[in-house]
Amino acid sequence: MKKIHALILPFPAQGHVIPLMKLSNQLSEHGFKITFVNTEYNHDKVVASLPKESNSKENNIHLVSIPDGREPGANRRDFAKVFDSILSSMPSYLEVLIREINESSDDRITCVIADEHMGWAVRVAKKMKIPVAGFWTAAAGLRTVHLHLEQMIETGILNSDGLPTKQQMIHLSPEMPAMNTDHFAWNCTGDSIVQQSMFRYISSNARDIKDADWYLINSVYELEKSTYPLNPNLLPVGPLLATEQTRLRGNFLAEDSTCLSWLDQQPARSVIYLAFGSTTIFDKNQFHELALGLELTGQPFLWVVRPSLIDEQNDAYPDGFQARVANRSRIVSWAPQQKVLAHPSIACFVTHCGWNSTMEGVAMGVPFLCWAYFCDQFLNQSYICDVWKVGLQLNKNDGGIISKEEFITKVKTLLVDKMIRARALEFKEISTKSVSEGGSSKINLSNFIESVKSK
Ligand code: UDX
Repeated sequence: MKKIHALILPFPAQGHVIPLMKLSNQLSEHGFKITFVNTEYNHDKVVASLPKESNSKENNIHLVSIPDGREPGANRRDFAKVFDSILSSMPSYLEVLIREINESSDDRITCVIADEHMGWAVRVAKKMKIPVAGFWTAAAGLRTVHLHLEQMIETGILNSDGLPTKQQMIHLSPEMPAMNTDHFAWNCTGDSIVQQSMFRYISSNARDIKDADWYLINSVYELEKSTYPLNPNLLPVGPLLATEQTRLRGNFLAEDSTCLSWLDQQPARSVIYLAFGSTTIFDKNQFHELALGLELTGQPFLWVVRPSLIDEQNDAYPDGFQARVANRSRIVSWAPQQKVLAHPSIACFVTHCGWNSTMEGVAMGVPFLCWAYFCDQFLNQSYICDVWKVGLQLNKNDGGIISKEEFITKVKTLLVDKMIRARALEFKEISTKSVSEGGSSKINLSNFIESVKSK
C-alpha cells in the first residue's frame, strides 16, 4: 500500500492548532506520516509546552515551522497586519518548504490538509499538483456563511466590504439557528481597518478553497443535519478527540495535570468547570463578579485562568477570595480539558462556547452554562441552548455584565435540571456512535483515507 505523507497546516491560533493536531494523530494511527506546519511563532510555544517525555517528532508526526511574514517581536494581535502578511508571504514559504521536503527525501508530500482559514494553501498545492483537502474547525453552520458571501452581497445583506447594510438576524436555512450579521467574524473586531483586512482575507480563502479535492469538518452530521445541503461534499469526521496515546496535543501553554488528582477527590457531579478558550479576555469588574458568584454557589470548582485572561493583572481576584475558596477549588493556567470534561466529578461546564469546547463538552455529555463572547460563539451557544437543549445561557444585566446573582441562579438550576442532563447524555451517545464502528464520522474518515490512498 502506498505510504501517505500529509502536510497539515493550521491557521495560527490555538483553537485551530488543537483540532488539526487531533486529526494528525488519528491519521498517523492509520499509517500516515504527518508534517505538521506551524508558524515559527506558534511552533516555539508548542515545543516549549510539550510534556517532558515528548519531542517534536512523535508517532510519525513531525513538527516543523515557516515564518508568518512578521518580525519575531511583532504584535500578533495586530490582526490587520497579521492577515495581510499571511496572504502576502506565507504561500511562498509553504511552497519552498514542500520543495525542500520533496527534494531531500524519498518521502514526498503526497497530500496537503489545509485549514480552510488558510485556503490560499489550496492554490499552492494545486500549483504543485498535490491533492489537497480543506478542513473546517468550527460549526458547519458558520462555514455556510463563509461559502455564501457573494450571495449575501448580491442580495444586499452585506455591502461589498462585508458590512451589514443593517443589523439583522438571518436564517441561511429554515432549520439553522438565526445568525446576527454583527456577529460575523470580521464585524466583531470593532476596528474598520481590521474589519476590512479580515473580510478580504476570509473572502480570498473562500474563493481558493473551492478548488480543494476533499472537505473535512470537526463536527457530527447528526448535530447539524440541515446545513449539509448548503455545504456540498463536506465530510464531518468529529468529534475529534485525543486518545490516551496522544502526546502531541498542540497546546501553547503547558497543561497542569495535577487538577486531575484533585478531581478524583471530589464527589460525583459536584464540580463546576470554567474555561474560556484561548483568546477571551475578561475586564476586571466582570472577573470580580464571576469570582464572587463562584464563591457564593458553595460548589467545588476548577477554573482555568490563563495568564492573558484578564485585561489588568493586578488585584484581579476579590480581597481574600483565594484563601476563602482554597479548600474547595483549583485554579490552573491551562487544564487537560478533554480529560477534565470526561471526569465523573464534573457537574457542568461554564464555557465561552468555542467550537472545540462545544464538541468536547457534547462528546463527554456535560451540561453547559454558556457565556458567548464573540463571533461564532453566539451561533454555538444557540445550538447548545436552543437546538440541542443541553445547556443554559447566561444573560447580561442592564449594566452590561453577567451578575453574580444570574450566575448563581443558572448554576443552581442547571445542577438539578434532569431534562438537560438527560439530553446531554443523549447527545453524548450520538457523538460516541458517530466515531464508533459503523458511525457516520468513522465512515467518512475511512472513506477519506481510502480516497487519499487511491489518488
Ligand atoms: C477560537 C474561537 O474562540 C472559537 O469560537 C472558534 O470556534 C475556534 O477558535 P478558542 O477560543 O481557543 O477558539 O476556543 P475553543 O474552540 O473552545 O478551543 C479551545 C481549545 O483549547 C479546546 O480544544 C480546549 O480543550 C483547549 N483547552 C482550553 C485546553 O486544552 N485547556 C484549557 O485549559 C482550555
